[in-house]
Amino acid sequence: MEKTLSIIKPDGVKRGLIGEVIRRLENNKIKVIAIKMLHMDINQAQGFYAVHQERPFFKSLTDFMSSGPVVVMILEGDNVISKYRELMGATNYKEAAEGTIRKDFATDIEKNVVHGSDGPETASSEISYFFNTFEIAG
Ligand code: CMP
Repeated sequence: MEKTLSIIKPDGVKRGLIGEVIRRLENNKIKVIAIKMLHMDINQAQGFYAVHQERPFFKSLTDFMSSGPVVVMILEGDNVISKYRELMGATNYKEAAEGTIRKDFATDIEKNVVHGSDGPETASSEISYFFNTFEIAG
C-alpha cells in the first residue's frame, strides 16, 4: 500500500483548519496511519526543504515553516500520493481546481495550507524525516 507525507502548515494550524483537512482526507477514504504536532526550528525547516535551497523563496519558505506549529501525518492508500495531491490542488492556489484545499483556503503561493510529497522516493525520505517505525500504526 502506498504512503505519503502530509503537513498542515503553520497557516492551516493557526486558522483552525486541522479538522477540515482531516475531514477531507477521511471523506476521500484516505487513511491516517501516523500523526503528530510539532514546531520546527529553522534548521529543521531548512533540512526538510533542502531541495529548494537554491530557490529565491527558500528563506521566506523556511522562516514561514518554522513560524508556528504544524501537523505532520502519514497517509496510506492506493495511489495516495496522487490522490492527496489532487485533494490539495496546485501549489499556486490561483491555479488550483475548484473544491481543492488550496483553492478553498490558501492565501498566497507560500501560505498554501498543506504540503504533500511529490513522488514515492520523496514520500519515503519525507516520512523518515519526521517519523520512526514505532510511531506508525499501519
Ligand atoms: P510545498 O508543496 O510545501 O513545496 C514547496 C513550497 O514552497 C510550496 O509548497 C510553497 O509553499 C512554497 N513556495 C513559495 N513560493 C513558491 C514558488 N514560486 N513556487 C513554488 N513553491 C513556492
